[in-house]
Amino acid sequence: MKVVSGVSSADLAAKLSRFLNAPVVNVESKRFPDGESYVRVVGAVAGEEVVLVQGLHPPQDTHLTQLLLLADCLNDLGASSIRAVVPYMAYARQDRRFRDGEAVSILTVLKLLKTVGVSELITVNIHSPWILEKSAVPVRNVDATGLLASYLLQAGVEKPLVLSPGKKGLEMAASVASVMETDYAHVESRRNLEDGRVSVSVDADLGGREVVLVDDVISTGETMAKCVELARRKGAARVVVAAVHGLFVGSSVEKITSAGADLVMTTDTVPNPYAVASVAGLVAAQLE
Ligand code: R5P
Repeated sequence: MKVVSGVSSADLAAKLSRFLNAPVVNVESKRFPDGESYVRVVGAVAGEEVVLVQGLHPPQDTHLTQLLLLADCLNDLGASSIRAVVPYMAYARQDRRFRDGEAVSILTVLKLLKTVGVSELITVNIHSPWILEKSAVPVRNVDATGLLASYLLQAGVEKPLVLSPGKKGLEMAASVASVMETDYAHVESRRNLEDGRVSVSVDADLGGREVVLVDDVISTGETMAKCVELARRKGAARVVVAAVHGLFVGSSVEKITSAGADLVMTTDTVPNPYAVASVAGLVAAQLE
């Protein structure tokens, strides 16, 4: 087995190669003067089972193009199989036709992966797990919420109230709370599709509690900032923000901290300064 270190996820590829005791194959990349992507696999892969590691965080379209070029190239170079580790799966939020005529982008991306010869996709907390049964390629969706909980325990967070917004919020809060042996509640959240503003509410007593806010992804930070404000307004003594994927677009961190967060942490599915818990062990367990 060889681990191909995609352009976007070199650190995670290195960690995975240590877990799997498999050599790393590097990739060269550049941009042509007209903006097109170039990739080159630097090493032999003929006859090898290959694990290609390439997250689809911003710039998503470039990273997606590189992933497709690499997978097709690895096939062409004679790899015996290609499993793609895509720790953050882009386009998963466009999982249905919200308005007439829209592309269901995630299904298109999954079809493309199949076309370039990816035999299996391993991802982490995909935003739309309900789409996987329609996927053109088999997918393993690793759950990293337990990892967030273990990190928080190690960091000394004890018996917090765990809150989580959104459709999967109750499930996510329950999963973190069960590892932390504490209580949890769901935050109702609603996004205005016109201006992106989010409104939140919660039916729980937060007075004097340490609150852990958990989400699958922080993008613009709007949802988390609103949740932090709500927790502060309802009297939380301390507010910790934990997410699997930290995209941290624009001034999202500033929004969240100025709303009153004491600590922000994520996993390393997306390289960022708050990525303190590594998913490498969890992902490697799927590949052995
Ligand atoms: C929503 O369903 C997700 O779980 C996140 O809450 C959302 O995608 C975060 O986006 P943003 O940071 O832009 O509010």
